Amino acid sequence: MIVVFGGNGQLGRELSRAAASRGVSLRALSHQEADIADGAAVAAAQTQYKPSIVVNAAAYTKVDRAEIEIENARSGNETGPAVLAGACATAGIPMVHVSTDYVFDGAKEGAYLESDPVYPVNVYGRTKAAGEDAVRGELKHHIILRTAWVYSEFGQNFLKTILRLAETRDELRIVADQHGSPTSAAEIAEAILHIAPLLVHDPGLSGTYHFTAHGETTWYGFASRAIGIAASFTGRNPLVIPIATADYPTPAKRPANSVLDCRLFAQTFGFLPRHWTEAVDATTRVLVASRAESHVA
Ligand SMILES: NC(=O)c1ccc[n+]([C@@H]2O[C@H](COP(=O)([O-])OP(=O)(O)OC[C@H]3O[C@@H](n4cnc5c(N)ncnc54)[C@H](OP(=O)(O)O)[C@@H]3O)[C@@H](O)[C@H]2O)c1
Repeated sequence: MIVVFGGNGQLGRELSRAAASRGVSLRALSHQEADIADGAAVAAAQTQYKPSIVVNAAAYTKVDRAEIEIENARSGNETGPAVLAGACATAGIPMVHVSTDYVFDGAKEGAYLESDPVYPVNVYGRTKAAGEDAVRGELKHHIILRTAWVYSEFGQNFLKTILRLAETRDELRIVADQHGSPTSAAEIAEAILHIAPLLVHDPGLSGTYHFTAHGETTWYGFASRAIGIAASFTGRNPLVIPIATADYPTPAKRPANSVLDCRLFAQTFGFLPRHWTEAVDATTRVLVASRAESHVA
C-alpha cells in the first residue's frame, strides 16, 4: 500500500483520485490525521497501514506568509520531511518526497539541472531546500521530485484565482518577467504512481529529479491562456496586461527563472508530461464547467 501524507492538498487529492481510477491501493492522510513533524503520529500511521512506500505531499506552501510564519514553514518543510524519512528508514521502505523550483535563485539562463547548486531566495525555498537535505541524510532509498507552479481543480492556486477574477474584472495585470512551467497536480500524481512500483522493487533507485509540464511560459502567459480558453465558454474576455515583478511587490522574493530541465526524469522513468498548454486547457474547461454549474445551483 502507498501511504500519502498531506492527503488533502492539491497533489494529495489528485493522488487519491488517480489511485482510485487505476485500482492502486493508497491511503491518503490529511494534516489532521497525521502531522509529519509529529514522530508519534507518523509512527502510528506506519504501524496501522504498513505501507510499502510513502509519498510526502505535505508541505507549508504559503510562499508569502512563510516570510513571517518561519517556524510553521520549518515544521512542514524541514522537520516534517526529516521525521518522515527517518521513519521510512526505520521501516526499511522508500519515500517519494516532493520539492520545488523555488530552491533556485532564478539567475541562471536556461533550464535548471538537478545538479545545479540551490540558492533559495525566500523562506519557503530555504525550508524546502533544507527538507531535501534532511531526506537525503535520513533515507538512502528516496526520490526527490522537484516540480513547479502547481494547479489543480482542488485547493487554492493561481489558475483558480485568475478564472474567478476574470468573471468580474475587465482588466487583469499579471507579472510577465518570471518564467516557469505551470504543472498539473494530476500529472504529478500520474508520474508518482508510475515511479512508485519501480522504487519499491529497486532498492538501488534513488536521487533527485525534475518533473514539470513540458514547455515554459510566464504568469502572464499562463493567465492569458486560461482566460482565452474560459472566454470561449463564458464570453468574458478581460484585458490581460503584462507587468514587471517590480510593479507587483510581494513579501517573498521569487526567482525570475525557475524553468526545470526534466530530461533526466523522462530518460530514467520513460514518463513524458504533456505540454503545459494542453494540461492548462483541460483543467480550465473542467473548472469553468463546474463554476457554471455552481452558479446555476
Ligand atoms: N503549489 C505549488 O505551486 C507548488 C510549486 C512547486 C512545488 N510544490 C510542492 O508540491 C507539493 C504539493 O504541493 P500542493 O500544491 O499539493 O500543496 P497544498 O495544496 O498546499 O497541500 C499541502 C498539504 O500539506 C498539508 N500540510 C502542511 N503542513 C503539514 C504537516 N506538518 N503535516 C501534514 N500535513 C501538512 C496541508 O494541510 P493544511 O492546509 O491543513 O496545513 C495541505 O493539505 C509540496 O511539496 C510543495 O512544496 C508546490
